[in-house]
Amino acid sequence: MEWYDDYNIDVDLIDTQHQELVRVVTRLQEALSSGPVNTEIASALKFLVQYTQQHFHDEEEIMRAIRFEELEHHQKLHSKLIDEIKDILLAIKKGKGVNAYDLIDFLTDWLINHIRYEDKKIGRAMEQYKNETSDWDGSLA
Ligand SMILES: [Fe+2]
Repeated sequence: MEWYDDYNIDVDLIDTQHQELVRVVTRLQEALSSGPVNTEIASALKFLVQYTQQHFHDEEEIMRAIRFEELEHHQKLHSKLIDEIKDILLAIKKGKGVNAYDLIDFLTDWLINHIRYEDKKIGRAMEQYKNETSDWDGSLA
């Protein structure tokens, strides 16, 4: 998976985390293409779940701070993905074979679409919030 600059939403913390997510998916891709599948996939996916949960948490904090209108909808998209990855982990644990290519396609598509169509809205909302909140010092806590 490759990172393109137009994936930036111009919120530094989020962009940095998105780049790390792309790296994690890429590592997963490499793990899948280099032989024995299940143990490698399981540990890469576990890391992906942990990292993604932290990232979603941070993203949601930012959305809350700028009173983002679509917070609830966006949160639902996040928890749906976490549930789907957890289902895959469970299937692996039960010894079910996972189609590596389907898995990578699914993750790559999700990430690209989510960043480009959903997270971009956060960047725009942040810009608007900055403009409307003249006394805002830029802190997000
Ligand atoms: Fe998001």
